[in-house]
Amino acid sequence: MTSVRKILVTNALPYANGDIHLGHLVGYIQADIWVRYQRMRGNQVHYVCADDTHGTPVMLRAEKEGLTPEQLIDRVHGEHSRDFRDFGVAFDNYHSTHSPENRWYAEDIYTRLRDGAKLIDTRSIEQFYDPVKEMFLPDRFIKGECPKCGAADQYGDNCEACGAAYAPTELKNPYSAVSGAKPVLRTSEHYFFRLSDPQAVEFLRGWTQGSTPDGSRRLQQEAANKMKEWLGEAGENKLSDWDISRDAPYFGFEIPGAPGKYFYVWLDAPIGYFASFKNLADKRGDINVAEFTEAGPAAAAGTELIHFIGKDILYFHALFWPAMLHFAGYRAPTQLSVNGFLTVDGAKMSKSRGTFITARSYLDQKLNPEWLRYYFAGKSNGTMEDVDLNLDDMIAKVNSDLVGKFVNIASRCAGFIAKRFGGQLAAHDPAIGLDWKADEVAAAFEARDFSRALRKIMEFADQANGYVNDNKPWELAKLEGQDARLHVVCSTAINIFKALTGLLKPVLPALAAQVEDFLAITPITWADALAPLPAGHAIKPYTHLMTRIERKQVDALLEANRDSLAPAADAKPAKAAAKEAHSEQRHAQHQAHAAATETAQASEFEPFISIDDFTKVDLRIARIVSAEHVEGAAKLIKLMLDIGEPQPRQVFAGIKSAYDPATLVGRLTVMVANLAPRKMKFGMSEGMVLAASGEGNPGLFILSPDAGAQPGMRVK
Ligand code: MSP
Ligand code: ZN
Repeated sequence: MTSVRKILVTNALPYANGDIHLGHLVGYIQADIWVRYQRMRGNQVHYVCADDTHGTPVMLRAEKEGLTPEQLIDRVHGEHSRDFRDFGVAFDNYHSTHSPENRWYAEDIYTRLRDGAKLIDTRSIEQFYDPVKEMFLPDRFIKGECPKCGAADQYGDNCEACGAAYAPTELKNPYSAVSGAKPVLRTSEHYFFRLSDPQAVEFLRGWTQGSTPDGSRRLQQEAANKMKEWLGEAGENKLSDWDISRDAPYFGFEIPGAPGKYFYVWLDAPIGYFASFKNLADKRGDINVAEFTEAGPAAAAGTELIHFIGKDILYFHALFWPAMLHFAGYRAPTQLSVNGFLTVDGAKMSKSRGTFITARSYLDQKLNPEWLRYYFAGKSNGTMEDVDLNLDDMIAKVNSDLVGKFVNIASRCAGFIAKRFGGQLAAHDPAIGLDWKADEVAAAFEARDFSRALRKIMEFADQANGYVNDNKPWELAKLEGQDARLHVVCSTAINIFKALTGLLKPVLPALAAQVEDFLAITPITWADALAPLPAGHAIKPYTHLMTRIERKQVDALLEANRDSLAPAADAKPAKAAAKEAHSEQRHAQHQAHAAATETAQASEFEPFISIDDFTKVDLRIARIVSAEHVEGAAKLIKLMLDIGEPQPRQVFAGIKSAYDPATLVGRLTVMVANLAPRKMKFGMSEGMVLAASGEGNPGLFILSPDAGAQPGMRVK
């Protein structure tokens, strides 16, 4: 494309009730790389994001911390902004959905849907209500016994023990996770967006299977297929209407003309993209907002709207959002770029393993953010496949590619330029063309196949190292009469290094900036990346550009994120898989899916519990009858525990880092005796021992009762 593209790029808005972790960063880094690449091409890109601040979890989390929701979201806004900045994710604006701009757009879109498109309906629905807390309860905040298997303390939407999915009203002995009270059924009026309207379904069939102006797919193949499934065949109608209201108390925007009713968080969340953009435009003064947001002007100006999101929120972005926009007279998105989920060393991120790694802890441990950017880029191929962060592989890749191949070129040649040639370059060696496959790299960046782009760039780096190895500047330097040759070889190597830096710049912006300073050049663009520097150009003395990663740094990072008391949910892969299959099933019914997302949003949240909750935990004094290492388990000790039952219980405890099994035998400790037995790789675990944890080494301390306590005594 020759003319300048005008693109508004967004990243999903992170919830304001949790920390940014490495899983989040997959999608943010992908978008940032793509934006930087587009800008290097000379395209005009606006890149915005914001915090997603509304909803019950934020409201309750604030209450629990003794803050107003506004205070909580202010604090988190600061934390999130710093995390993104420090990973080089350079939004032009980082705003909030709790903002005047967002209220304005939400009301405008809603009233246009109500009065213009006539797609808003009301109807009464029956829901659980907490009579003590005086609020309706989202599914995640209702617990009870599973209707299928009877397991206690299951959430309102599915059972962690047997994987059954059900409605909260099916739970036996339900209770509110907020107050502990028994919920009652109450009817209230809700507002619905009529997504089942044939016009809406028809529009979405076309939109989801459509393409962008340059002929690429609007949705990746996998996503387009999913949508076909969700939308069904022509003539079929699988969509139900979308419940967009919540009753007070709720942290959000009140619905115009509906006192006491609030927009459901997912109604105003994507609208936050426009709110952030409008806020940016007001600060800048040179942006025509309507050209990016309104149907007519956007079509006339040929602007693009591209959303980068994770695969769990595809439903919202490929159904509700485009339909809302279209029927309100706004422009529908040009394209979605959907990323897969992060796993670490092949498994779901886990607090007990220390692989639930926060962005901040990574920075605090002094790991270089560009190591992660490089590694994630190498794992990103533009599809919805999950991305695995294999820690040993990351160390190997970064050390061999970035330090061994790339930085090494400069570090081997720059010294001669400084010492022997007054810092000035000679003319480029004409035998070495720099007309390298930049177009192939460009096509890969464009298609978000960063993995292919990096493979090509590293081939080029291999050739560059071959040139240096063949010409051996360190030997030329010792020979009489070879000064001119030495000068040319080192200058040529520096030019190749500059070209590589240009190609890597979308991925490694901070390193590229250091190189631009070292080479005393203006910021490299795509057009001039491969051009050699002129003879006589003076560069600065070489300063160290990047260190190697050491395994011990990664171990310290895991240690810093390890929560030894976290339930080892990851020890139950079968259950996790069952859960995923269920949530897949639920995609067919968007209402249920919305609930599932409320679930995800609340997942780190445990509001206060009642004394009844506490007494459900059967804590017992246990005598450690035997303790032994478990073959193949890095963290576990197998304990046999006597709690006064005929047979001792077998428990796998993650305490190997702190205890020698021999010293444990005969000790008394405290165990949870009624934790559902769990099948682990090494056998059944029939309970859990309690331990305190903190910083430092050993950092883990199992509990002991005072003298006189006997195995089997209840602790309460
Ligand atoms: N608030 C919603 C998005 C609203 S967009 C209008 C939300 N927030 S989130 O904090 O849960 O997630 C933010 C982004 O990070 C989403 O794109 C989500 O898919 C992505 N990820 C969250 N956890 C992730 C992984 N473990 N792996 C990869 N991406 C992940 O969803
Ligand atoms: Zn069950």
